[in-house]
Amino acid sequence: MTNQKPLLKALRGESATAPPVWIMRQAGRYLPEYRAIRSRAGDFLSLCYTPELAAEASLQPVRRFGFDATILFSDILLVAQALGSDLEFSDGRGPCLSRISTPSDVDGLRSADSVPSCLQPIYETLRILLRDQPANATLIGFAGSPWTVATYMISGGNMRGQEPAVKFLDHQRTAFHRLIDRLVDATIIHLSEQIKSGAEVVKLFDTWAGRLNGADFDDFVVQPNNRIIDAVKSEFPEVPIILFPRHAGRRYADFAAANVVDCLAIDQTVDPDWAAKRLQPTTCVQGNLDPSLLVSGGQPLVDATLQLVNSLSGGPHVFNLGHGITPDARIENVELMVTTVRSS
Ligand code: CP3
Repeated sequence: MTNQKPLLKALRGESATAPPVWIMRQAGRYLPEYRAIRSRAGDFLSLCYTPELAAEASLQPVRRFGFDATILFSDILLVAQALGSDLEFSDGRGPCLSRISTPSDVDGLRSADSVPSCLQPIYETLRILLRDQPANATLIGFAGSPWTVATYMISGGNMRGQEPAVKFLDHQRTAFHRLIDRLVDATIIHLSEQIKSGAEVVKLFDTWAGRLNGADFDDFVVQPNNRIIDAVKSEFPEVPIILFPRHAGRRYADFAAANVVDCLAIDQTVDPDWAAKRLQPTTCVQGNLDPSLLVSGGQPLVDATLQLVNSLSGGPHVFNLGHGITPDARIENVELMVTTVRSS
């Protein structure tokens, strides 16, 4: 039964003896079956836009490790593409986008209404996944948060980091607000379409939240995420939302106090004992094993896994990493982590 799925129970605030487990970037290059399907698709974007293959990539880790979640195989940058940015992924260099560098570049973007037609294949992937995922797994849809997606649209990729976006924000604040507003609208539409297509939970990735602080953090991290969360909640009150404001530090507590999300995903710089005290009383906590332990493995992996489960055992917890699994992670270490969580 849907309401007995372990992940949904945790997101509703129930604690369990062994927490549900999945990992960020669980479909990826550390898996030989992913590398095979990726080469069949030709390139990363073709894989994202071919529903049968994207569904297969999403299901590979769920079948192999018995994870409690199936996360849609897609990327946060497809929304930028739907708004008119040229997007390519080249091996070894990551994403490459046409750059937003002037206010008129912002005004030249397409309207948020173009999202559903451009991203139809993504919604088809979700329909396949809802039908084909294992009965105890929960289907997660996702989007990038406006600030994080804007950093890529302004820098043109990930080589220059977040500095071009910070400069744009300082010098062209009004235009930057317009860009964020456009992304808020597009993200609300994208998440709503995903839910209508079968997503049982949605997650917002604000990977670069920690680059901002003070009033900028309020204006471009807190507010846009809250606007999206409010809009999605008012249309789909029963769908849990996970927020990952990576490297937000003590500001994680502001999100917990505001009580707007069902779950906060914490990066590995957050002390789990602090999270248990400050976040868990109002929200479920997801995280936060150091991904490098899945490369090195051994007793340190087992010890850290048990310690993490123990620290967060007093409230709702979803076991996960503090950030995505890396291509050099070892499969036997992922197996060891899952067995350790489940036997805890
Ligand atoms: O398994 C899953 O987690 C679902 C699919 C997923 C991908 N990207 C697939 C992907 C998800 C949820 C994302 C989110 C994403 N994409 C984020 C936020 C989460 C995070 O990790 O911080 C960000 C910042 C991106 C943007 C992005 N996509 C970058 C910077 C890169 C290049 C770096 C890299 O890891 O290669 C990507 C590519 C990407 N997205 C890959 C995958 C599996 C690797 C592509 C390949 O096969 O070569």
